[in-house]
Amino acid sequence: MDLSAKNGQWESDLIRQFEWFHSHPELSYAEKETTAKIRALLTKANIELMPYPLDTGLVAVIRGTKPGGDRRTAALRCDIDALAIQEETHLPYASKNPGVMHACGHDFHITAGIGAAILLQNQRADFGGTVKVIFQPGEEESHGARKIIDAHVMCDVDRIWGFHADPSQEAGVIAVGEGYVTAAVDHFIIRLHGVGCHGAHPDEGKDPIPAAAAIIQGLQTIVSRNINAFHPALLSVTRVQAGAAWNVISPDALLEGTVRTMEPKDRLLYETRVREIADKTAAAYGVSAQTEWIPGPPATHNDGRMAALCETIAKKTRQKTAPQAPSMGGDDFSYYEDPAAVGKEIPGCYFKIGTGVGPQIHHPAFCVDERAIRPAAEYLANLLLADMGSIGLVPAPLSR
Ligand code: NI
Repeated sequence: MDLSAKNGQWESDLIRQFEWFHSHPELSYAEKETTAKIRALLTKANIELMPYPLDTGLVAVIRGTKPGGDRRTAALRCDIDALAIQEETHLPYASKNPGVMHACGHDFHITAGIGAAILLQNQRADFGGTVKVIFQPGEEESHGARKIIDAHVMCDVDRIWGFHADPSQEAGVIAVGEGYVTAAVDHFIIRLHGVGCHGAHPDEGKDPIPAAAAIIQGLQTIVSRNINAFHPALLSVTRVQAGAAWNVISPDALLEGTVRTMEPKDRLLYETRVREIADKTAAAYGVSAQTEWIPGPPATHNDGRMAALCETIAKKTRQKTAPQAPSMGGDDFSYYEDPAAVGKEIPGCYFKIGTGVGPQIHHPAFCVDERAIRPAAEYLANLLLADMGSIGLVPAPLSR
């Protein structure tokens, strides 16, 4: 048998699947064709699918058959949705859906997840527990993980793995570290109400615009005056809106923005201080403020033991490793580790896989180096096998 030909076929199958997912991007909760394609590929590989109540996404279940092995369940999260971005890569397999693009590499996540599921299915005799591969909808919308948790997918899960494409690393580099790696994402809206009047007679009204300006300045002192200087945290005011005419003082103003923190205590402190600064500054300017606080996913915290395993397997499979740069961006992966969401403590690890150095995620020219795909599928399978107590690695060439 020509072993290299078999390996080459496996790799070209994965690349063909990746290109299909890339050219058929779908927005959060509209991932219908994506879901149908994943289902078809998993079904063809005789992989069990969990009963699942949501319209999009699905969960593959691979049950190890090794007698007396570890009986626990590990999950691997792969998000599947795309972004409302007009693609500018000029790739031959560019998006066929105008204004929608896989600009966050979730097409890579899907393909690597399917590849890993097939490899694990073939290696069932080598482990005892169960692996769930979660193809999660709606990550970009920040609440897809909550829907998966509410669908009782996590009831029997003991630990959760996640990964993300990383365009700051060469293809195949595994970047991992322990501790906080993504931030908690909170959203605030401050509505100021004053009294409108003629632009020439501000003394007859209550102008909310100077109050808004003072609040913006005040909010930036939270990080420098209230937060421990060793804790990563930030606040960005991203929208300021007031007025409709050059000679009229607006009765209302609106400020909107985001707060990013790693430590849960800082998250609570920020909410308290944003409300205080908005209320008291507004009062000082004779206007009123209403603050709406919209919490998003918490920070992602990598378990030390899992992060160490991640690195060990990368070295064992001769993949380059790099320290994982923590990000003030968020990922709803953190809900899977959040006892408030899941109802129990689940250790997790969320690492990066290099997809070739190029434009960053969410950029219209972002693209994945296809040489990253097959190694990623094999690495994920090896990581899960090791986590399930198997001492072997996925054999090469790969039997399919
Ligand atoms: Ni993403």
